[in-house]
Amino acid sequence: MIPLCVPEIHGNEWNYIKNCLDTNWVSSAGAYVGRFEEAFAHYLDIERAVVTMNGTAALQLALLSLGVGAGDEVIVPSMTFISPVNAIRYVGAEPVFADIREDTWVMDERQVEALITARTKAILPVHIYGQPVNMTKIMKVAEKHHLFVIEDATESLGAEWGGRKAGTIGDIGCFSFNGNKLITTGAGGMLVTDDQSLGERAKYLSTQTKTMGENGSFYHEEVGYNFRMPNLLAAMGCAQLEKIDEYIALKRKHAARYNQLLKGIPGLALPAKEEGFRSACWLFSILIGPDYPLSRDQLIDRLKKNGIQSRPFFQPVHRMPPYKDCRTAETMDQTRKAAERGINLPSSVGLADQDISLICSIIGNKDL
Ligand SMILES: Cc1ncc(COP(=O)(O)O)c(C=O)c1O
Repeated sequence: MIPLCVPEIHGNEWNYIKNCLDTNWVSSAGAYVGRFEEAFAHYLDIERAVVTMNGTAALQLALLSLGVGAGDEVIVPSMTFISPVNAIRYVGAEPVFADIREDTWVMDERQVEALITARTKAILPVHIYGQPVNMTKIMKVAEKHHLFVIEDATESLGAEWGGRKAGTIGDIGCFSFNGNKLITTGAGGMLVTDDQSLGERAKYLSTQTKTMGENGSFYHEEVGYNFRMPNLLAAMGCAQLEKIDEYIALKRKHAARYNQLLKGIPGLALPAKEEGFRSACWLFSILIGPDYPLSRDQLIDRLKKNGIQSRPFFQPVHRMPPYKDCRTAETMDQTRKAAERGINLPSSVGLADQDISLICSIIGNKDL
């Protein structure tokens, strides 16, 4: 089976985790936690990074740290994994759904302003499948209407917009280290910000708002959360981060090969590029058009029969029962179209060139 996206574990993971076990520092007070935060902030060239137990917790923490809560609205795309939308609900706010761009399949920045009301508190763009959202326009609209921007960069570590890394452009950026992500800690997340006091607030909230009295007793001024990452996982994160440039270069190489081999095949839409846009190519994706001989689901089935795992695009969150009554953009046509026709293709860092050739030859076989 050629899997969709599996981790690459070839660096110092064993050494660092063994060191945690040998020294008895397995929980969240160990040195790898701070080391991972610092190395991650350094990689992104940002002031502060705060580890969390997963990407969803990082998103919830971002909203909590900015004071987003009951009665507020947050603008978010419907074409996303459900986590950012759930995080909006966890803090008591309401999601308002934007459509996506036809060409890059991320939140359509041109639609956001029309969705703003007096209740809007934040914009939450999601950089899906490694593709960055047009952050220039998002930041302009946010500035004009005094809104916070939280970037969900969980799927797009290493992507760039206008020469800046995804996740570092808004007030807060959030990342995930789930097993299928570019770098993994098994489960984990990170919140990043250039605002030190906001970073402090996030750390404080994520560690049960714990402060210590002179005699070592704990004191809690407000309700906090246990979103901490244990040292064992942070150790793995440190090792994974050492390899990140190599991993992104390989992802981009795989995407270039897919593009080259698929470009002449009628009925396929390949990922487009905008100026200022640099994809991290996390999951190489295409849309299956009406001219293609098979439907999207028939192609998934065909690939599966040949031992190749693929996945349909996300189903629109605004159609799911908990969110079906939420406000949306006037039309959600591009979201609907991409949900019906989009497919993610195998994109592991360790994918072989001949695997990509095989996948593309099955997709391009005229006798399907
Ligand atoms: C777009 C998006 N946001 C948030 C998350 C949440 O990350 P985690 O699974 O680490 O909670 C994910 C997925 O894993 C995701 O794909």
